[in-house]
Amino acid sequence: MSRKIYVLDTTLRDGEQVPGAKLNLYEKLEIAKQLKRLKVDMIEVGFPASSKGDFDSVKTIAEQVGKDVVITALGRAVKNDIDAVYNSIKNAEQPMIHMVLGTSDVHVEKKFKRSRESILEMGVEAVKYAKTLLPEVQYSPEDATRSDFEYLWQTVEAVVKAGATCINIADTVGYAVPELFGELIKKINYRLKNMNYKVLLSVHCHNDTGLAVANTLAAIRNGADKVECTINGIGERAGNAALEEVVMGLKVHPNYYDGYSDVQTTELLRTSKLVSAMMGLDVQVNKAITGENAFAHSSGIHQDGLLKSRDVYEVIRPEDVGAQEMELVLTARSGRHAFRHVLGNLGYDNLAEAAFDTIYESFLELADRKKEVYDHDVYYLVKEYYTGKNQEFTGNGIELYGLVDFQVISNTLFPTATIKLKKGEETLVQSANGNGPIDALYSAITTMVGKDIQLKEYRINSISRGKDALGRVSIQFQYNGKIYNAKAVDTDVIKASVMAFLNGVNKIVLENKANYEDQEKNQEQHVSNK
Ligand code: KIV
Ligand code: ZN
Repeated sequence: MSRKIYVLDTTLRDGEQVPGAKLNLYEKLEIAKQLKRLKVDMIEVGFPASSKGDFDSVKTIAEQVGKDVVITALGRAVKNDIDAVYNSIKNAEQPMIHMVLGTSDVHVEKKFKRSRESILEMGVEAVKYAKTLLPEVQYSPEDATRSDFEYLWQTVEAVVKAGATCINIADTVGYAVPELFGELIKKINYRLKNMNYKVLLSVHCHNDTGLAVANTLAAIRNGADKVECTINGIGERAGNAALEEVVMGLKVHPNYYDGYSDVQTTELLRTSKLVSAMMGLDVQVNKAITGENAFAHSSGIHQDGLLKSRDVYEVIRPEDVGAQEMELVLTARSGRHAFRHVLGNLGYDNLAEAAFDTIYESFLELADRKKEVYDHDVYYLVKEYYTGKNQEFTGNGIELYGLVDFQVISNTLFPTATIKLKKGEETLVQSANGNGPIDALYSAITTMVGKDIQLKEYRINSISRGKDALGRVSIQFQYNGKIYNAKAVDTDVIKASVMAFLNGVNKIVLENKANYEDQEKNQEQHVSNK
């Protein structure tokens, strides 16, 4: 029978140890609430003995978020720390004390300069004390993977006898490799379950050699009941096991791991974005599950296969992790099948074969010059084809927005922007102010296009040795609730930002063209009713 694997999220404790990723209380609360929506079983919310600020935030989170989820916080195996943990989490519905104490000789001899026996005794006393405060106590033998096995086991045995309810084997410096770590977990699990089958065996893996997720999954395969992870794999140094990867690994291979988690996987992407935005830590584009390209396909062979059947190149469905859909990125390597698909989406599925061939050739030329070809580029290719032949181009009733010019005034008092756009033959001008020049520009565009659009995410990065800027936006069209991602590159950061937003607007216009006129009317109604 498949086992439930408990998931503890430590983004707010180990994850927050990332330099520069410090969060304020409001941000921690937002993340904790989202972790609850994600349905993790346990949340580690801080290290309350480290400062008054940390104590206060652990306490507030425990009180405001601590229902239907285990709340824990970390301390060293000393009375002061345990008191701080207890006092900060005691008002949660299911509080658990977590303490850590090294078991490797490096820790015992070099860090503590004590004997193995005295450290073991210290751990036992700490657990006994914690048990006078709360029934649930987790004990983490720090640097367990570099510890002498028999001493590690002696420690585990002694602290379980003292009342520990969960043993968390920590690969503190990311030293483990999956095969050996699996064997270690199997051995400990065998002895532990024979001793007291109710005690949970947990693992906490760091990513110093890039194996944190692999080690965590190997532990599950070998009997671990619980895993400790962080969102986006953030954490001390190279980080921790990425929660989204462990959970999806388990979901893709439930039989192999003989387990499942209760994590609501459709909340994974949202959680990743929230943590990334609040901590100011970008997610690498090719990161599994939550990277921007995780579901983007660009090679012609893959696009062709996917269009025939998604499972040809898709092992995880984007919808399962909260991504909207797979993305076919048109590049010079895209084939005719993918190009025809995009044309079809734009309403040009009935082109004569000769017209298709010519437009496809111009697409390839454009794709050689541009890295990515967007849907609105394809629309313009079709338009060029018809107007070049002096034939009527109705554009399915759509006119896209093109940038003519803009001006921004950036100051602390009154940032203002004026923008001139072209829509078909029409030229539109609009000014607006905002919190800054980009905000002002986006307000001007939103007012001008008259659609209920909300900016969800905006990023600007330098690329190609700092000469070009890549602007990226995620905007939500309130009419259908859908998020549209768009980007643009320019040497001018403001222009890259404007173009990214306009590309997003054009995506909305194109994708919603089928009942475009109705929507325009509904939008006007929707906006005027506000
Ligand atoms: O890496 C580590 O050893 C830890 C423990 C507190 C579990 O973070
Ligand atoms: Zn750690």
